[in-house]
Amino acid sequence: MLVIIFFKMHLISGRAYSGLLCRQGSVSTCLRRGPVLIKPPLCRNISLSSQRCTVMSSWIIDRYGRNDVLRLTKNMMFPILTFPNEVVIKVHAASLNPIDVNMRNGYGTAALNMKRDPLHLKAKGSEFPLTLGRDVSGEIMECGVDVSYFKPGDEVWGAIPPWKQGTLSEFVVASADEVSFKPKCLSHMEAASLPYVALTAWSAMNQTGGLNQHNCSGKRILIFGASGGVGTFAIQLMKAWGGHVTAVCSSDASALVKKLGADDVIDYKSGDVAEQLKMLPLFDFILDNVGGATEKWSLNFLKKWSGATYVTLVTPFLLNVDRLGIADGMVQTGVTAGTKILKHLCKGVHYRWAFFIPSGLSLDEIAKLVDSGKIHPVIEQVFSFFDVPKAFLKLEGGHARGKTVIQVTNK
Ligand SMILES: NC(=O)c1ccc[n+]([C@@H]2O[C@H](COP(=O)([O-])OP(=O)(O)OC[C@H]3O[C@@H](n4cnc5c(N)ncnc54)[C@H](OP(=O)(O)O)[C@@H]3O)[C@@H](O)[C@H]2O)c1
Repeated sequence: MLVIIFFKMHLISGRAYSGLLCRQGSVSTCLRRGPVLIKPPLCRNISLSSQRCTVMSSWIIDRYGRNDVLRLTKNMMFPILTFPNEVVIKVHAASLNPIDVNMRNGYGTAALNMKRDPLHLKAKGSEFPLTLGRDVSGEIMECGVDVSYFKPGDEVWGAIPPWKQGTLSEFVVASADEVSFKPKCLSHMEAASLPYVALTAWSAMNQTGGLNQHNCSGKRILIFGASGGVGTFAIQLMKAWGGHVTAVCSSDASALVKKLGADDVIDYKSGDVAEQLKMLPLFDFILDNVGGATEKWSLNFLKKWSGATYVTLVTPFLLNVDRLGIADGMVQTGVTAGTKILKHLCKGVHYRWAFFIPSGLSLDEIAKLVDSGKIHPVIEQVFSFFDVPKAFLKLEGGHARGKTVIQVTNK
């Protein structure tokens, strides 16, 4: 019991790691007593950030709610390395995704808190102050002892999972396996526009849908919500892999998706999409970034008994857990997914849910596609670090045409 209380106190104070890892230059790093050098058991031989910081500027929330909960502070604790495989990144640019607006509103809190604190050792609300923002492009400042792939000064990009502190901040901590070397041909602002949407599309089309550069040639791909962050990346990925892309978007996004390579464009505002799709041959793969009613009829446009797959990114998982709690929410989610998978399997098509998966390895592959000129960032608007609330309002307004980027430094 005492051990648990002790551990809990350490976790709450954010110093659970001290004694295992420590920052060079701090009192506990290497204690010199006369001529004898006393080293702690696992003293981190770090390479230092240019200057030692204890606080930094961050956009934080102290409670969930509308845009007025966003607060800029100059006194956010400098992030610490808790595990030996972590790195501290100086954020040069970040970007926003719908999940940031949803998280600000409190969406997914039950499941994310479960991930943050599986043993429920921390007090309620211990996730605050919470920094939002998933995408980062920046520079490695410090590496944990187990990190050999990166070194300080390396330019990296990545998407930080939503249960961790986010990137609307001067510095952020990530696992080394969540980040990758930034594509050389992109600026930090361009690079920050891609990781979260790219990894989500990669997860949906490659890891869940089984598409890759070897089997995609000539396949007919239908993408709903083609004009947004995920859609604009997905079109380019499919074209890079030789697929035939039909993009569903509104008419004012038609030129954009065509420029990205879409072969056919369907305007969902100018008439019934199902009627328009009847004129076209059936599809091998559908990526649904819209959900809702689309899911009810769109699987009819897949080729039957040929391995054709529908993958949706709009799932009830986090909502179920918020509403019903962890256990009931997961059971409900499992039943819903299982029922739909079986129902559609009987009709000769595959039905799947996909989720964002953080992965430095996938980003390595994506960086190659970017550096070879096959994938370009699609940036709708850039906001300065001081205008983060305006960027949230813009995103909340919907009708995205690519990404909303936040410039954090002048690099
Ligand atoms: N499961 C996961 O882990 C995961 C991860 C990332 C994203 N997502 C979800 O995936 C979806 C797409 O994400 P995103 O980042 O691409 O969002 P986004 O940037 O906001 O883009 C959504 C796009 O869909 C268009 N749209 C809206 N209704 C449409 C319809 N009926 N038909 C065709 N297009 C329509 C919007 O433009 P107009 O309204 O002007 O047409 C907008 O361009 C979101 O719902 C997001 O929450 C899930």
